[in-house]
Amino acid sequence: MSSAPFASVSQVYPVVWVQDRVVLIDQTRLPQEYTLVEISRSEDMAHAIRTMIVRGAPAIGVAAAYGMALGAREIETQDRGKFLSHLEQVAQQLRQTRPTAVNLFWAIERMLRVARQTVAPVTHLQQLLLEEAQRLGEEDVRTCEAIGEQGLRVLPQSPGELRLLTHCNAGALATAGYGTALGVVRSAWRSGRLERLYADETRPRLQGAKLTTWECVQEGIPVTLITDGMAAHCMQRGLVDAVVVGADRIAANGDTANKIGTYSLALVAQAHGVPFYVAAPLSTIDFSLTTGTQIPIEERDPAEVYQVGETVICPDGVSFYNPAFDVTPAWLIAGIITEFGVFKPASLTQLQERVAQ
Ligand code: MRU
Repeated sequence: MSSAPFASVSQVYPVVWVQDRVVLIDQTRLPQEYTLVEISRSEDMAHAIRTMIVRGAPAIGVAAAYGMALGAREIETQDRGKFLSHLEQVAQQLRQTRPTAVNLFWAIERMLRVARQTVAPVTHLQQLLLEEAQRLGEEDVRTCEAIGEQGLRVLPQSPGELRLLTHCNAGALATAGYGTALGVVRSAWRSGRLERLYADETRPRLQGAKLTTWECVQEGIPVTLITDGMAAHCMQRGLVDAVVVGADRIAANGDTANKIGTYSLALVAQAHGVPFYVAAPLSTIDFSLTTGTQIPIEERDPAEVYQVGETVICPDGVSFYNPAFDVTPAWLIAGIITEFGVFKPASLTQLQERVAQ
């Protein structure tokens, strides 16, 4: 299948609706292969989220919203009550895919709310749910662009010489387009401020090596790939002006869950006086949790740790631990870059009113 219009020089859209189905960029195959996957059933969308064909907090939120729309389309009854109870089952299947990124749950609730609040024939509800999923995706791109703009206000001022470091992939692939942390990087590049991005490889699944560098190459952003353990050395050598990462869930006090390895990066940044920023939309903040200790942390298949590619890297008799995320305490975070501005973790609750709206 051809790549256009899902990835062009600087535009990458990993979750799009085409005619009567969703088309995903298969993120498990990049950068070697650019493959598109067509999804017509909610069950297949749940599988795509679980297996990380689509991944990254905002992207799985958009994917889950489409999963709800597809599931709604599969429900055959004309009875609104029965429709709503079947839709709850669709929601439950999608909720069970990945536990940490709150955008997934946020998007599912938003879709359920539309269905519950609308008294209309089932065919009309099905159409409304599709439109809501499309709206959610379009909003996400605009939100990321706004995050990119907001980021420019706080990044150190060194025109054309700014060196940023990021972890994992919080780019266009991880959202509906543009990216959060990588959106900030993109905005810095487009405004002539960026000299270079350092990308942590991000063991064990290598989203930094495979996806972030791919996106940078698409847009011509100068990128240097390093292994996770090299970040401290780079900071010690004065190569990094600021760190910008994404988030999967932010508690009300600013504690932030993001890809495993983010916490150590924040500690290293603190030790070297390098500002550490989190870039995330409002939909990533979970005001129902007071601190990061309450954030559920996904544990994944140990094979991700004991294998690199197909190669087993340790002897028999070893045990494994594979948490996919860690929590960076708020005190290590210089600012949280949202579409509504940049907030100190302690003042994040100012945004809570907007959630209620
Ligand atoms: O396991 P993944 O690849 O879904 O984890 C992704 C991350 O941790 C991202 O940094 C986060 O979701 C922010 S994406 C804008």
